[in-house]
Amino acid sequence: MAILVTGGAGFIGSHTVVELQNAGYDVVVVDNLCNSSEKSLKRVEAITGKPVPFYKADILDRNALEEIFSKEDITSCIHFAGLKAVGESVEKPWEYYNNNISGTLTLVDVMRKHNCKNIIFSSSATVYGDPAVIPITEECPKGSCTNPYGWTKSMLEQILTDMQKADPEWNVILLRYFNPIGAHKSGTIGENPNGIPNNLMPYITQVAVGKRAELGVFGNDYDTPDGTGVRDYIHVVDLALGHVKALKKIEEKAGLKIYNLGTGVGYSVLDVVKNFEEATGVKIPYSIKPRRAGDIATCYSDATKAKEELGWEAQYGIREMCEDSWRWQSQNPNGYED
Ligand code: NAD
Ligand code: UFG
Repeated sequence: MAILVTGGAGFIGSHTVVELQNAGYDVVVVDNLCNSSEKSLKRVEAITGKPVPFYKADILDRNALEEIFSKEDITSCIHFAGLKAVGESVEKPWEYYNNNISGTLTLVDVMRKHNCKNIIFSSSATVYGDPAVIPITEECPKGSCTNPYGWTKSMLEQILTDMQKADPEWNVILLRYFNPIGAHKSGTIGENPNGIPNNLMPYITQVAVGKRAELGVFGNDYDTPDGTGVRDYIHVVDLALGHVKALKKIEEKAGLKIYNLGTGVGYSVLDVVKNFEEATGVKIPYSIKPRRAGDIATCYSDATKAKEELGWEAQYGIREMCEDSWRWQSQNPNGYED
């Protein structure tokens, strides 16, 4: 019996494989390595002391998935595989819809043919759009997404919801992540963006390591305490542990469930800069830039439901997130490249 982790070589996937193996689960990873390196899985093996069975394959490749499901005894799937760069999705909508939506449709079709009807799906707070209420509960209505990436998450939530309704043998857990940062304490696995980072923390750590001159702060005229955008940053290890708890829920025959995975606390861009500087002793030069298209002022979760129903809550605070992001970046200035 094993858990199939799609996209398991990526940032969140690799951390989740660690926590699954630590919790005693057998894991099988499928990843086409389009945004990751197989080295992450070697490092996972070094952390857990257990082998990670790996198939280099695309989830759009039905034959490859058929082969995996024939060879392995897969009971549940944690589905991370997907493209996730917001800006790129605006430039290449077809590629995003094809990879994320067709890929997931192929995956769940092969799953049901092999009578594996348990899936945990990586969704995002982006499905709330500009949220109607703050803090955001799961009852908050979904909103209008500002880019194709966000729509793939919103549409896939709907597709999986409809499939579960039509066939109640499915157990579907939609996990809406807030802003994952941080890295494993060992400093050996972490986030490894290609090119110029889109997200705040990888940009900050690249400034800190000397790869970029300064941080651009996208807007200081939002309706927030210091005018900069407020987000709910969550340590990636906490996020990974949330998946282990969700898997326990699946084993109780969950039906359809939706959970926010966040800390419930919002930090502004300047709060993050300040905390990073205090945690690491490294100064982050920054300048104020215009607002970034599509950004919202404030986004943080109400994390009560996951606490009550999954018995999960985030353990790590912003300081540890900063320390651990920095340990990974400073020990691996070029990520997984030599
Ligand atoms: P990531 O890019 O590090 O990991 C995704 C992995 O999926 C990569 O290893 C990539 O090679 C693989 N992949 C992509 N398309 C594939 C395909 N067709 N077949 C096989 N493998 C494929 O990203 P991440 O940050 O670890 O995100 C994991 C999931 O969580 C994604 O679905 C993402 O959209 C979602 N998510 C991420 C965030 C975030 O801020 N990181 C927030 C909300 C949701
Ligand atoms: N920011 C900067 N400068 C930068 C990068 C970001 O000021 O160089 C600001 C943004 O304007 C925002 C905050 O930092 O106020 C966080 O931005 P990120 O890009 O790190 O994260 P977002 O909240 O914009 O989006 C992330 C993921 C999305 C996901 C969303 C909700 O990138 O895929 O969280 O989960 F949908």
